[in-house]
Amino acid sequence: MGCSPGGSPRASRGGLRRPPARAPLLLGMLLLGTCLLYCLSGPCPPLALGGAAAPAPRPPPRAPPAEGLPVADGFGSRRFPQAIIVGVKKGGTRALLEFLRVHPDVRALGAEPHFFDRGYEKGLRWYRNLMPRTLEGQITMEKTPSYFVTKEAPRRIYNMSRDTKLIVVVRNPVTRAISDYTQTLSKTPAIPSFQALAFKNLSTGLIDTTWSAVRIGIYAKHLDNWLRYFPLSKFLFVSGERLVRDPAGEMGRVQDFLGLKRVVTDKHFYFNETKGFPCLKKPEGSSRPRCLGKSKGRPHPKIDPQVIQRLQEFYRPFNMKFYQMTGQDFGWD
Ligand SMILES: *[C@@H]1O[C@H](CO)[C@@H](O)[C@H](O)[C@H]1NC(C)=O
Ligand SMILES: *[C@@H]1O[C@H](CO)[C@@H](O)[C@H](O)[C@H]1NC(C)=O
Ligand SMILES: *[C@@H]1O[C@H](CO)[C@@H](O)[C@H](O)[C@H]1NC(C)=O
Repeated sequence: MGCSPGGSPRASRGGLRRPPARAPLLLGMLLLGTCLLYCLSGPCPPLALGGAAAPAPRPPPRAPPAEGLPVADGFGSRRFPQAIIVGVKKGGTRALLEFLRVHPDVRALGAEPHFFDRGYEKGLRWYRNLMPRTLEGQITMEKTPSYFVTKEAPRRIYNMSRDTKLIVVVRNPVTRAISDYTQTLSKTPAIPSFQALAFKNLSTGLIDTTWSAVRIGIYAKHLDNWLRYFPLSKFLFVSGERLVRDPAGEMGRVQDFLGLKRVVTDKHFYFNETKGFPCLKKPEGSSRPRCLGKSKGRPHPKIDPQVIQRLQEFYRPFNMKFYQMTGQDFGWD
């Protein structure tokens, strides 16, 4: 494989400002220690470190990594994420992650690793090896929206590090449920209607809380589980609605929470009138623009307003509890 960029399906996409070849290139170097010397002696392409910001100095050489410590070489280390976007499905987590990756001090895994819900038995070393390398001062991140509704996830993340910062993108649970259903419908057109799944008994209006599209939106209940391990100060709740209306404003809060300079600002966004959603201005050389609500092209199925109203009533007490717990009014009621 030498020093030429080889493919690694797990390697992070290099972030919007970075050449895509870098992650696989670095992976290659990890596997072949000797390759490092080879590269330093000239024949490898130069590495663009740090995007727009001044490149951080290379850390000094370290002793061979001990068990449990980051694996280091001259180009950064694989570390456990210091911040994870833990939820919620259809809340806008992909957009948030893509917006964050514009920041030169954020390095994020492109795919959802699903480690703390489905892959935990693979072990923490496996998990850390998925992570992109970071230099001092850079933050490692991943996002897996199903963590928020996974009973074991808070304990497992706490076990990795009790200092982990947790970001939850939330959105009106009714629109979230419809969006969730619409996504499933697009993959499996034969499923029953929304209302057939949402109600246990249509005539009594009894909601089926075992249906995941309904269950995920009971945010207060899931948050209760997390608060047994993490204090509220470890969380940032991002409004999915505000992320659409005012992406730069919401990104300001996110960067502050992560202790990052406010690099991602309104200069990075434009509003696509056709789509009705904000998009990231693509830096030169990057592939496609990244927009919020990318899948919104899918027509939502028609849902009886009474069904929506009944669901809205169902969620109200849980929403109130959630506002109280977080100290934030998300304006869904
Ligand atoms: C996390 O779990 C592992 C294995 O279950 C254990 O060996 C380790 O001590 C735990 N770490 C913390 C910080 O609780
Ligand atoms: C729905 O509720 C009505 C009124 O309580 C009851 O008569 C009916 O049997 C219920 N249907 C089902 C499927 O449980
Ligand atoms: C806006 O969105 C529409 C519909 O998805 C797309 O065809 C168009 O290329 C987008 N325009 C810009 C400037 O992103």
